[in-house]
Amino acid sequence: MEFKDILAPLDIELKKVSMLGGSMAIVVVPYENMDMALRAKRETDTAIKYGDYLVMGVFGMGADEASTQFLSIPKGIAVFPKEGSDAQALFFAAVERLNMSKVGSPWVKSLWDSIKETSVPDADSDGEGKLLTGSFYQFYAFMASHPEEMGRIVTTMNPADRHWIEDILPFGMVSAYAQAAAVPEGDLSRFIEGWNYKEKLERKRELGKVTLRKFRTMEHLFTLPSISREIIEMAGDPLVAASKMAKIIEKDPVLTSRLLKVVNSAFYGFRRQIVSVEHAVVILGNDEVVNLAFSIAVHQIMDRIAPKQGILLWEHSLMVAHLAQWLGPLLGCTAANALYTLGLLHDFGKIIFLQRGYTPGELTTMSSLQDLAGEEKETGMSHAEMGAFIAEKWNLPEDIVDGLLSHHLPSKAKDTCMAVTVHLADSIAHTAALSLNEINTAAARFLGPDKMTLLSGEVVSKRHEYVHTRVKALLDM
Ligand SMILES: [Fe+2]
Ligand SMILES: [Fe+2]
Repeated sequence: MEFKDILAPLDIELKKVSMLGGSMAIVVVPYENMDMALRAKRETDTAIKYGDYLVMGVFGMGADEASTQFLSIPKGIAVFPKEGSDAQALFFAAVERLNMSKVGSPWVKSLWDSIKETSVPDADSDGEGKLLTGSFYQFYAFMASHPEEMGRIVTTMNPADRHWIEDILPFGMVSAYAQAAAVPEGDLSRFIEGWNYKEKLERKRELGKVTLRKFRTMEHLFTLPSISREIIEMAGDPLVAASKMAKIIEKDPVLTSRLLKVVNSAFYGFRRQIVSVEHAVVILGNDEVVNLAFSIAVHQIMDRIAPKQGILLWEHSLMVAHLAQWLGPLLGCTAANALYTLGLLHDFGKIIFLQRGYTPGELTTMSSLQDLAGEEKETGMSHAEMGAFIAEKWNLPEDIVDGLLSHHLPSKAKDTCMAVTVHLADSIAHTAALSLNEINTAAARFLGPDKMTLLSGEVVSKRHEYVHTRVKALLDM
């Protein structure tokens, strides 16, 4: 049968519409989406199968209305009489749009390409490259504050790009896309283009370079007592002998006395029986002593540099460290000790901001994309980048640096499990619950239904209470 003949029923409908002086949208949908499209179409609309497509004539509608009717179905639309007078011409116009929409509209595609480009640090950039180009919270916050427009953009994207962009946003927003209202395409172009992505990114980078330059010379901030470094190295080796460990810790008398005070406190319940570090290692085990020693060492640094609000952060950091240590194995992460360190240091960037007179995002709730954007606007980087910068200066292991960098964007982490764990522990520490709406989409996806059932409201709130009591006891000493 000739192509024209196949579309003949549509031409008959078009003639009727033309006589009545109305309009009609020709909607072309790929064959694989035919079932969804047939469900969405009204009884009065005409539908014809042709080759790889389903071609529909939708009465009395313009492009925006037809687009709403077939929301989240890939499609191309051409409208009679505005864009053609016969079914064949309209069909070709609609197919062309469909093909364009498969890769996203040209402006969406070019924008996304440039975002992807700018967010991947080039291989030979120095360590600072990833701190300046790895994230752009001001843009993520802008997107997160426009759920309707984002819903519309994301539903026209191909799955790979879609995933990439959704992983940056809060899960609560992404899971509500289905209800996203229709926004005319013209408004979408203005929405993105009007934001001046390129100029703003350039400004952020310049500001970040200035901040890093300022901080590079502050040696006193960056001297992690060598003892801490040795402790971290031990943490990576579960077979270190108790005597060797004790020797390292005992090199620092203040650390030693604090450690013995803690292990002999009511917190551990041994009632002043532990007389030496070696004894503590034998009774409590390597991991516990390493974590404790490192906590005390980091606390000493914090005490030295952090102003009053630092106390709040220190309690929160301990909470996250303990929660991460519990959560990691449940989620299948292997490096439990690194998780403790990571939890302890995850918001260290905020301490640095506080100390230098900058405004870190909210201290009593988990940083939102808006908070992170605020830090970035002021310094060109967020507390996550700042924390990673310090950790790098301290020569901490690469997985710690990477985990700090990506604790608010786990999709960018090298070890997703670690970053997701700290991200969730952060949220639980603040809310005593797994607040799905607030957490990042990549983290929610990583959890999936199976792991979610392990973390019921009751389990999470009980663990929070337990950890909170322990941390309070530690802080009271
Ligand atoms: Fe954070
Ligand atoms: Fe935090």
